[in-house]
Amino acid sequence: MQIADVQDEIDHELVTKAQIDSKIKEMAAQVSEDYRGRDLLLVAVLKGAVNTLVAFSQALSIPVQMDFMSLSSYGAGTTSSGTVTVRQDLSTDVRGRHILIVEDIVDSGRTLAWLVDELKRRGAASVEVFALLEKPSRREVDVDVKYRGYEIPDEFVVGFGLDYAERFRNLDSIAVLKPAVYQGEQA
Ligand code: PRP
Repeated sequence: MQIADVQDEIDHELVTKAQIDSKIKEMAAQVSEDYRGRDLLLVAVLKGAVNTLVAFSQALSIPVQMDFMSLSSYGAGTTSSGTVTVRQDLSTDVRGRHILIVEDIVDSGRTLAWLVDELKRRGAASVEVFALLEKPSRREVDVDVKYRGYEIPDEFVVGFGLDYAERFRNLDSIAVLKPAVYQGEQA
């Protein structure tokens, strides 16, 4: 799906498909170089990271394994002690594995900080993070993102895996939603 297909609900495009493709290629080249000769497991956080995982993994020039986790983060935006619960766990034993967590976006950083700690606790040999997007102004928890894509402003973005009420995940670029689309809910 493209911007033109949902233009009534989109304010403007933020990151084009071409920009996403070129950034992911650049990041994938770096990851391929860093992990060549090592056994790498990509861990994607459902559902938002799926689009990023597909594009990123196909741009790699090394073989990798993939696994998935579904997490949900609770807690008010103003507290830094949000609890993360596992909705669906990995099917892989991560002991001794080199892991790269693949995220579409790091917002408060809570999901990621929890997951990095959890994978280390389970005995991973190394845990690094790949994130296509970051909202630095929303960060509450310090977490080290080794492979970084685009920094974006604190706006309501959808597309390339990101949703509003489960819609727009299949938009092929990243765009800012018109406030009218979600205003009713914010009031
Ligand atoms: C989003 C995103 C990250 C998380 C980032 O997932 O995919 O996993 O939020 O937020 P944080 O940095 O504040 O923890 P979401 O919970 O919206 O689920 P989804 O991927 O299924 O849409």
